Parts: sequence; C-alpha cells; structure tokens
Amino acid sequence: VKALIIYDSVFGNTEKIARAIGGALGSADEIALMRAGEVRSNPFAGLDLLIVGSPTRGFQPTEATKNLLGSLPSITGVRTAAFDTRMAFTGIQKFAMNVFAKPFGYSEGYASTPIAQSLNEKGGISVVPPEGFFVKASEGPLKEGELERAAEWARQILEKMG
Ligand SMILES: Cc1cc2nc3c(=O)[nH]c(=O)nc-3n(C[C@H](O)[C@H](O)[C@H](O)COP(=O)(O)O)c2cc1C
Repeated sequence: VKALIIYDSVFGNTEKIARAIGGALGSADEIALMRAGEVRSNPFAGLDLLIVGSPTRGFQPTEATKNLLGSLPSITGVRTAAFDTRMAFTGIQKFAMNVFAKPFGYSEGYASTPIAQSLNEKGGISVVPPEGFFVKASEGPLKEGELERAAEWARQILEKMG
C-alpha cells in the first residue's frame, strides 16, 4: 500500500507510535511519515491509506493537527485511520473529564475521535475505529507494550484493506 502517516508530537511519544505503525505497514519506499506542521505541497495524490495521529492535549488534537485537518483537500475514497496518545485518567481526572469535557462536545475527551470525524468529512473511508496509545505521564514514557500494540493495530489496518 502507498501510505502516508501524519503525526504531531511534543515529547516524542506519538512520533514513536507513528514510526512503529509505519514499520509494521510496509517498507520505507511505500510508507511516508510527516509532521503535521511540515505538510507542504499536496502529498495526498495517489494515496491508498492516510493515517493521522496526535497527542491528546486539553481533550483534543494539537493546533498543528487541527490546522492540518482544516486545510486537508478532499480525500474521497482514501482509506483512513486515526490515533492519539493519551494518559490513563483515573479518579478525579476522570471525573473532571466527564464533567468538563464531554458536555462541551470533546467527544470522549481524546484526540483520535475528532481526527477520525474530520477524515470522514473529507471523504476518507475509515477502516478501523480510532485508537489511543497510553503514556505513563505527560512527557512519557509510553506504557509497556504500546509499540507492539501499535504494530498490531497497523497489521489490522492492512487486513481490513484486503
Ligand atoms: C498541556 C497538556 C495537556 C494534556 N491534556 C491531556 C488530555 O486532555 N488528555 C490526555 O489523555 N492526556 C493529556 N495530556 C498528556 C498528553 O497526551 C501526553 O503529553 C502525550 O500523549 C505525549 O505525546 P508526545 O510525546 O507525542 O507529545 C496533556 C499533556 C499536556 C502537556
């Protein structure tokens, strides 16, 4: 497949996930990786698969990711998948998310759901549900096993594409 993975990353964790996904999808001549803020000319022509991932910041994707999605051309027929990195909220944090984030339309409070919605609105065909990968703290590291889970998610995408 000819695939493009666009990601944003502040502390490097989302970039690691993006690279694990890319590595599992295929060889470097087919899989391109780009930072959301560095997408210049139109890299979307002839794509089979577009994957977009962002850290979750304040219950949503980063500014660079939102700008990218806002300026995305029509991608009719392109297969798509969305992911994010996030923290496992517990206790008071979970409570805060339910009270403050959900009522204001921040979906489940994570970045991948609005990313998937934007990709659908541009004509993409989502092949797997939006997925989240966990960091142990804001700056990382990733939880154990998340790179392997990202590779497994990528293999699922390939399977769904047939
Ligand atoms: C300002 C700020 C806001 C954040 N907001 C959330 C949030 O709403 N939900 C969440 O799960 N994690 C949140 N986090 C944790 C980030 O998801 C975490 O920093 C990110 O996954 C790390 O990815 P990166 O290394 O690619 O930047 C936040 C972190 C920062 C610094």
